Amino acid sequence: MTTLKNAPQRSYSETDHDTWRRLIARQLSLVKDAAPQMYWEGFERLKLDQQRLPVQEEMSERLYNLVGWRLSNAQDEYLKPVDWFIHLRERHFPVTDYIRPPEDIEFTPLPDLFHEYFGHLAWMTLPRYLTVVDRITRKYLATPEEDRQYIANFWWFTIEFGLIREDGKVRPFGAGLLSSPGEFQYSMAHPELYKPFTFEGASHGTSKPYAFHDEYFVIDGFEQLEAVTADW
Ligand SMILES: [Fe+2]
Repeated sequence: MTTLKNAPQRSYSETDHDTWRRLIARQLSLVKDAAPQMYWEGFERLKLDQQRLPVQEEMSERLYNLVGWRLSNAQDEYLKPVDWFIHLRERHFPVTDYIRPPEDIEFTPLPDLFHEYFGHLAWMTLPRYLTVVDRITRKYLATPEEDRQYIANFWWFTIEFGLIREDGKVRPFGAGLLSSPGEFQYSMAHPELYKPFTFEGASHGTSKPYAFHDEYFVIDGFEQLEAVTADW
C-alpha cells in the first residue's frame, strides 16, 4: 500500500503564475480545433484555474469527488515504472509541483505542472478513460518483470504520446503532445511518422523522453484502445 505524501505546497513566484497563464493561453489556441471531443469533456469537468497555478490539495479533492482518484506527490522521488503503476493501482495519480522556467516554454524534458494538469488530468476525470488506465496498470503488474518494459512502452505510446483519429482527422491524444507546444506542432506536421496503432507496434516503440519522437501510433478512435485492452 502506498501512502500519500502531503508535502507542503511549493510557493510560486509571479513569474511562475505568468508562465502558467501563457502556457494555458497559447496551448488552448493551438489545440482548440485539434484535441478530440473526449478531451474537452474532461477539460470541462476539471475546471482548471487558467490564471493561477493549481493547488494540489484542492485539485486532488476535486478529482476524488468526481471519480474517486487522488493526486499524490511525485516531486520528491524519481518514480520507476513499477512505483508509478503501484501509485495507479491505489488510485493515486502522481504529479509534480515543478513549473518550467520561462525559457523552456516550448519543450521541457522534465514533466512539469502544465504537463500533469493540462495534459493528463482532463482525461483523468473520465470514468471511461480510467477503465483503460486500470487495465494497463493491472496488465503491467501481472506481467513478469522481464516483459514489463513492453507494457511501459504501450503506456508511453498511448497515454503519453498517442495520436487518435476522430472525424477523419488525426488528433493529439497523449498528455505529452497535448501539453507540449513544440511536440504537438511537430507531430501534426509530420504525418510520415504515423503508424497504425497495434499492441505489437506500441509495445515495441522506442521512447525518447528528451527529444521529439520519430514514430507516433494513431489509435482508430477510443474504442480501439478499449478493444485492445479489453481482456487485461
Ligand atoms: Fe505524463
